[in-house]
Amino acid sequence: MSSEPNLLLPPRPITSLDDYLALGGGRALALTRERGPAWVLDQLENAGLRGRGGGGFPTARKWRSVRGGGPELGDRYVVANGAEGEPGTFKDRPLMRTNPYLVLEGLSVAATVVGAREAFVAVKASFTPEIAALERALQEMAAADLLCDAPVSLVGGPEEYLFGEEKALLEVIEGNEPMPRWLAPYVHGLYATTPQEGWSAGTGPIEGPATAGSNPTLVNNVESLANVPLILTRGAEWYRDIGTADTSGPLICTVVGDLTRAGYGEIEPGTTLRDVIGRLGGGPAEGRSVKAVLSGVSNPILTGDDLDTPVSYEAFQAAGSGLGSAGFIVFDDTRSMLSVARMVSRFLYVESCGQCRACKFGTGEITRHLDALASTDESAPDIEIIGQRLRSVTDQNRCFLGEEEQRVISSLLRRFPEDFTPEVVAVGAPETLLIPKIVDIRDGVAYYDEAQSRKQPDWTYAPL
Ligand SMILES: Cc1cc2nc3c(=O)[nH]c(=O)nc-3n(C[C@H](O)[C@H](O)[C@H](O)COP(=O)(O)O)c2cc1C
Ligand code: SF4
Repeated sequence: MSSEPNLLLPPRPITSLDDYLALGGGRALALTRERGPAWVLDQLENAGLRGRGGGGFPTARKWRSVRGGGPELGDRYVVANGAEGEPGTFKDRPLMRTNPYLVLEGLSVAATVVGAREAFVAVKASFTPEIAALERALQEMAAADLLCDAPVSLVGGPEEYLFGEEKALLEVIEGNEPMPRWLAPYVHGLYATTPQEGWSAGTGPIEGPATAGSNPTLVNNVESLANVPLILTRGAEWYRDIGTADTSGPLICTVVGDLTRAGYGEIEPGTTLRDVIGRLGGGPAEGRSVKAVLSGVSNPILTGDDLDTPVSYEAFQAAGSGLGSAGFIVFDDTRSMLSVARMVSRFLYVESCGQCRACKFGTGEITRHLDALASTDESAPDIEIIGQRLRSVTDQNRCFLGEEEQRVISSLLRRFPEDFTPEVVAVGAPETLLIPKIVDIRDGVAYYDEAQSRKQPDWTYAPL
């Protein structure tokens, strides 16, 4: 694939439908209409496409489960997840900016295959260039009958990290706060009228289709959907040839942190993490070395010894981590992992919605004790308490956020115990790192959302 690196991200933005059609666009939806859903599902399965939203779930299996089950389950809905909230990740925005037609064609294929009543593209309301590109593409494609039969709407959502969590995303589309509901979208979808187990996060459908049932809903990341037209037009075998056995197709990666520059770009899975960091970020600064790498804030840390790990779901798992959304936050040998732990824990504590006690209480306690550990105050508590809270922070949770705290913080303590000793803390003044909630990457510079450092655990912002 290295000879053809721009399968998803074009070298120049595609700004008109004519340009998209000239590049072969529009054929995937035509083929879907001609050959039918079973053919599409077989193609996706044979291609081995896995979701790019962070979990790597097999896309064909998800589509089959939403399509299956018969009409008694209610309507079907499809949502393209363009919330892009994972720290260190900036891949969906370049894709939506430069190739909105590809995303919308993928969404249209999905809606056609599952027989959707309605389709949505959900992005943060602050993503103005992406919204402009998507709106223009939607209008042009609708006028040319190059969208699915179901109406497609653009939804602008809040800044919260949880907005991208699929169960919270559905709440936002229904007009509520981004508070994850209990059940997964494929069992309790948009405007569902079936009861949820236990207490319901929402008050039920206030308006919208009054169809009875659970309304299985398909939620896919926008990059996952952008891969679909490639597979249908070029074939599953061609696609499978790109990448590794369990990670096929092109992958958009982001690299930020202690590097010569910040960057993003398409890579072939199987490329080593070292190469990706070198190619997209120019490697660490002169005289420095990579101490650790986080893939978002959802997976255990990798160390400088893991740099030859191939970038793939299977290799990252074998290395004791996870690929996540392929957004890599790099720390060089000047960094204390205590600072990294404080940064991640505070972010997750602030962003936790508080519906599950173990999550909000646990992330809060861990953050407080890490902060105390970083202070030279004699009353700094025992690290044992952090261990206890890490064990229980996932108890009875509705979503994965507590798991993220457990994975990242435990791995930092396990792999860098020396950074958490009082002696080390006393010598090096602990720094406060800005969480890489990326606003933009331009000319090798990453711009982070500075307001995030003022955000409080109740989602208000402290005054400047
Ligand atoms: C706290 C949290 C935040 C998430 N944020 C995003 C996000 O911003 N974008 C995204 O595509 N998926 C996000 N996800 C994953 C989604 O819940 C969901 O798994 C994904 O959109 C499914 O798409 P895929 O199968 O195409 O990967 C998040 C998950 C969690 C637990
Ligand atoms: S696990 Fe945390 S973030 Fe997720 S729903 Fe529960 S309290 Fe909210």
